[in-house]
Amino acid sequence: MKNILVFGGAGYIGSHTVWHLCENGYNVVVADNLIYGHAEAIPTDVPLEHVDLIDANALGELFAKYTFDAVIHFAAFAYVGESVEHPAKYYRNNVVGTLNLLEVMRIVGVKNIVFSSTCATYGEPIYTPIDEEHPQNPINPYGQSKLMIEKILSDYENAYGLRWVALRYFNAAGAGWNIRESHMPETHLIPLVCCSITNGNPINIFGTDYDTPDGTCIRDYVHVMDLANAHRLALEKLEDFSGVLNLGTGIGKSVKEIIVIAEKVTGKKCPVVFTVRRPGDSTRLFAANKKAHEILEWFPEYGIEKIITDAWMWENNRRF
Ligand code: UFG
Repeated sequence: MKNILVFGGAGYIGSHTVWHLCENGYNVVVADNLIYGHAEAIPTDVPLEHVDLIDANALGELFAKYTFDAVIHFAAFAYVGESVEHPAKYYRNNVVGTLNLLEVMRIVGVKNIVFSSTCATYGEPIYTPIDEEHPQNPINPYGQSKLMIEKILSDYENAYGLRWVALRYFNAAGAGWNIRESHMPETHLIPLVCCSITNGNPINIFGTDYDTPDGTCIRDYVHVMDLANAHRLALEKLEDFSGVLNLGTGIGKSVKEIIVIAEKVTGKKCPVVFTVRRPGDSTRLFAANKKAHEILEWFPEYGIEKIITDAWMWENNRRF
């Protein structure tokens, strides 16, 4: 399985995966609507097709132009808050767009897909660490849209023999190669901490009254290069395994702990403002990752210091 279409390959996790696949000898084509993606983030010798998932005709042309053994599908809108305000946008792009993709795959006979899912499909956890058997009750349309797609993939397996892996990411962070995390707007903690250290504008810490040792929320930050590696491993296992896998380190860090580590790593002060809770934030999210160990032999290589070191380095060596 060497010829891979990476849909959404110009985005943050997508572009890191593209570099990783290229380094490992895969033939990659990237498709991206470039709404949030960056053409500069992918290697110059990788073909980039400007295609939107909603455009079924363009998808047909894409699959007629190339021969693919498998698809990795990153192309989703992913702002939780926006999904609550504009659910139509999320269901249309994420769900209808994926149906378009699966339809063209079915027509041309591409039977392998690795899909970007999320821990947001679990909703408010009943227990931690969260394993794959944890009930799924998403609390926003973004999480709902991802859960719907997981169910669609399972039904397509039963009916059409689709081979699929849905990777439920916890908090992707860090950077590699010459890419940095670059969302517009940026809402994620680690890039915002790096930005505050650089420009001296304080970062808001959303809530200090959570039921955690220091009162701030706990998350499981996983290095984007470890995620990239997991996508390759998932491709390689598709013949033997279809289903869902958590991708997290199993280690939770609080917002305050992240600030302390960032100050240590950079040797600079991070200005902060303590403010009210952000709506929709869970107190504590971290993964049980035993299944990914067993099935993919995936063991995250990088810890939180490396994640923040790399995020900081690329914040200061930005190309775009
Ligand atoms: N935080 C702050 N200040 C900020 C930004 C974030 O205190 O300026 C806090 C948040 O309240 C949260 C933690 O830092 O407690 C992490 O927030 P992020 O926005 O970095 O990440 P989330 O955990 O909210 O979101 C991630 C993914 C989403 C996914 C979600 C599932 O980015 O795609 O986990 O809960 F849907």
